[in-house]
Parts: sequence; structure tokens; C-alpha cells
Amino acid sequence: MAEQTPQPTVGSHLSQVWFKVTDLRIASGQGCRVTTVDGEDYLDFAAGIAVNSTGHSHPKVVKAIADQAARSIHAQVNVYTHDLLEPLATRLADLAPGAIDTFFFANSGAEITEAAVKLAKQATGRPNIIVFSGSFHGRTHMTMAMTTSKTSYRAGYAPLPSGVFVARFPDPLADDEAAEVESALRGVDQLLSAMTAPDETAAMILEPVLGEGGYVPAPRAFVEGLVKRCRRHGILFVADEVQSGFGRTGELFAVEHYGIEPDVICMAKGIASGFPFSALGTRRELDDRWPTGSHGGTYGGNPIGCAAALATIEVMTAPGFMDNVRERGRQLVEGLEQLAGDESSGIRQVRGLGLMIGTEFDDGERAKSVAAHCLAEGRMILMTAGTAGRCVRWMPPLVVSADEIDEGLQSFAAALKATA
Ligand SMILES: Cc1ncc(COP(=O)(O)O)c(C=O)c1O
Repeated sequence: MAEQTPQPTVGSHLSQVWFKVTDLRIASGQGCRVTTVDGEDYLDFAAGIAVNSTGHSHPKVVKAIADQAARSIHAQVNVYTHDLLEPLATRLADLAPGAIDTFFFANSGAEITEAAVKLAKQATGRPNIIVFSGSFHGRTHMTMAMTTSKTSYRAGYAPLPSGVFVARFPDPLADDEAAEVESALRGVDQLLSAMTAPDETAAMILEPVLGEGGYVPAPRAFVEGLVKRCRRHGILFVADEVQSGFGRTGELFAVEHYGIEPDVICMAKGIASGFPFSALGTRRELDDRWPTGSHGGTYGGNPIGCAAALATIEVMTAPGFMDNVRERGRQLVEGLEQLAGDESSGIRQVRGLGLMIGTEFDDGERAKSVAAHCLAEGRMILMTAGTAGRCVRWMPPLVVSADEIDEGLQSFAAALKATA
């Protein structure tokens, strides 16, 4: 995503503050395709920014939402408890990594990463947090302070909250990954000895796979090094899995690829197939240190959101669903690597996990024109990512078929040729 200068919009009562990836006006969506108001079909490989996990309007999710809407639309959690809260928390406890067994619900990714910070401060009694360069955690003031994937997310909004320290995320293009990881970990140690003492540091918050920062899986040794430091100093390790969670990487949560257990995990996007919903998971003993009444929200735990999340989980845990994510991910990477083999493609790196795949170009202009060509000629929606916008990211609905991946690769190949 990129900044744009304000554009006067004639004949519209909508704010122009939203950056637009396309000018398409969508009337409906089914699976991996959306249909415009003019009746044109597009292959949607942006999936609402990695949200439509079960595809557009999966029948099971649609039914769960419709049935729940007929029963109750809003049942405010402070006022009373509705009958889907415990079932959803129980299901998430079965699925969440490690000993995570206790859940708080909200409506968006930013709200849930901000909630993670609030929990960490209360549970440790410490004021500061460490985040990593290239991260995106949201657009509220706290999460803007935590976000360093692009200056445009923060510019013009100072002052931002203090107590946020930024350590370096390893460069995926470094020649020597081991040396790069060691250097990045030394930077974390430097922060802890010079800027935020361990007993003042509540949490380290990491996206296991950088999302807006360019679809970069964190190197295993880096994640292990961070967890080791967290354990040594009583710092909480928070995994922001808003984008990488809910099956996107071929495991239900990206931390499963690393074999580590976060103390806190943030979920949103794919969790409810597009219904606004987010969840914070932690262990009971940590949640017990979060004073009752010190956090909450009017809509968090909305019954329709719970119904959509339960239906999404049912779809995702059905036999074959995750196999499809892994197989389609492999098919996509193989196809992209083949295209990248041609020097004129301008692709410098193909990387990622499952169906969270990035193609890093030599320059941002090329990435932008490739995505624009795919849209105009291939009727395929793709988005870019990365600080310099050099990454074209692939985040199709997780139900994508082999034929749809082939179709996407063909459009992409044509775009590479046309823009060479
Ligand atoms: C890793 C991560 N955290 C947090 C957020 C913020 O989520 P939302 O836009 O729902 O507030 C995003 C959104 O892209 C994200 O990718």
C-alpha cells in the first residue's frame, strides 16, 4: 500500500482517505472470484488482504451468519454472555499453539495487537515493548507507533505513544543468513542493555512472517534467539498472527513452523472469513493478571462473528483443507520460481510459506506495473507489499484450485513479458 496526495472526488460522499488498489466496484463474490457491478469476473488473489480464507461467501459461513442473525445480532459481553462465546473459546483452545487456553475477542487486527500490549503491560508490570523493523500492527495510535513497514502509515500523526523500541528484522536478501541473524540478535541485546532494560520490557511482538513488510518469513534461528531472550528475562513473546494465522502459511498458525510457543497470540483476518472479528489468546495464569474491567469494548465477541469463526474453523479443519493450502502453495512457488529463472522477469526472490508467498522484484515500479497488467489484461487482483513496494504478494483464498493457480501464473507470466 502507498501514500497518495488527497484527490478531490467529484460526485461522491465517501472519504478519499482510503488508498485504492483498484477502481473495481464489486457486486458479489464466490470462492476465488468477484463479480463487478458491470458483470465482469476477476480472480481475487488479494482475498480482501488475506481475509477471505474460505473464499468469498462460503455456503457454511453464509448459513452460520444468517442463522445467527435471525437469533441475535448483538449481545454485549459486559451485559450478558451469549451461547457461542465459550464454544468458540474452547475450540480455539484446542487449536492454539502450546498452553494457550484463554481468549479475549475484539473486531480488528489493530484492536487485538493493541490489546496484546495492554495485557503484557498489566501481566508483567513493565512499561515498554520491542517490535521489529518492517512490521505492520495497525493504524490506531499505539499500533502506528509499533508499525515501521512504511513511513506513510505514521507521517503526520505525531506524537505517537512512547515505550516502543524497534529492533532490526533480518534482511531476507542478505547473502549470509546466519551472519545476518546473529547481527540482528546482537541489535536486540544492544536494545536491552542500552535502551529498554529487561525489567522494563513487557513484550517482544513479532510477525512470524512479515505481512505488509513484504511477505518475509522470519529465519528460524532468529525466532529461537528471541524466544530464548524472552524466557531469560521474563519478557512475553507475542506472535502477531493477524495475517499469517488461520491456515495462511499451511499450518493453522505460522509459529507451528518454528516449533515455538508464544505467550500471547493475535488472530484476525482469516478467523471469520471476512466478518470483522479478532481474538487474543494467552495462558490462564497471564490472563488472570489482567485486571477485570481494565479492557473491553462494545462489539467484541459479537455473536455473528463467533458464528462465522466457528463455521470457518469447521471448514478449515475438514479433511483435505490444509492439504490444499500446502499443495497449492507448492504449485505456486514452483511456477513462480520457473518464471524467476528468466532474468528478464526482474524477480529477485520468491519466498514465503503456504499461500503467503512474495515475489520480490528489483524495483517497486516493475512490481507495480506487473500487478497493474495482471489486473487490466488478466483480470486478476494482486497487491504489492514491502517498504519499497518491491514485493508482489500472493494471498489467494485458501480454497484456491490447481486450475486457478495455473490461471494466475499464466496472467503473471504475460505481465512479466509485457513489462520486461
Ligand atoms: C500482522 C498484522 N497485524 C495487524 C494488522 C491490523 O489489522 P486491521 O487492519 O484489521 O486493524 C494487520 C493488517 O494488515 C496485520 O497484517
